[in-house]
Amino acid sequence: FDRGLLSGKQVFITAGPTREALDPVRYISNHSSGKMGYALAEAAVDAGALVTLISGPVNLPAPPRCKRIMIQSAEDMLEASLQNIDQCDIFIASAAVADYRPVSVAEHKMKKGNEEIMELHLIKNPDIVASVAAQQNKPYTIGFAAETRDVISYAQGKLERKNLDLIIANDVSRSDIGFNSDDNAVTVVSHEGATQLPLSSKRQLAHKLIEIIAAAEQKKDH
Ligand code: C5P
Repeated sequence: FDRGLLSGKQVFITAGPTREALDPVRYISNHSSGKMGYALAEAAVDAGALVTLISGPVNLPAPPRCKRIMIQSAEDMLEASLQNIDQCDIFIASAAVADYRPVSVAEHKMKKGNEEIMELHLIKNPDIVASVAAQQNKPYTIGFAAETRDVISYAQGKLERKNLDLIIANDVSRSDIGFNSDDNAVTVVSHEGATQLPLSSKRQLAHKLIEIIAAAEQKKDH
């Protein structure tokens, strides 16, 4: 592994889940552990990059030698991501952002009513990686696609729709990999084609992905 691979490059990484508040004590979220994003942050630091890790609530310590910004909601994550985006060379979106948030956040704890059914009104969250990719001076932008079927074709759809340079697809229907697991097997999908990487630890995979990303970004630059 080349420790100068990303020397002088600014890398922003989103990681973990977001929490969308319903009231002062409740929220909507998901089971993302943040492990893949944190492993990528460590690998990027190892490759000499200046790393900003924009993280939702997770049970992981901040990787050494990186700047970590802790956020709660998708809107917070968007704000943190766009701050200093003009200085960012490579943006990696590994966060599991909640697709929707409650239309309004109750000021006080919501009370149980007599109704058996309760309706929640949700509104779509901003797409963080698509907003980054829509910037004038866009960084090399990488997304993740967690799919349960037709993995490659859905990933390709997201690559195009969100104007990404690369997307890392994984099959979350398999219980041995993905979300909370320590291992992962992914397919790297670019505009040129797809490359499957073998099952390995998230740590090993992160180093491999950083090599692939560094090479692809270089190629794009020159
Ligand atoms: O949720 P979806 O499958 O569309 O996620 C694909 C990619 O888009 C992931 O990299 C994820 O981090 C990113 N994303 C985002 N903001 C959202 C939804 C997804 O940055 N609101």
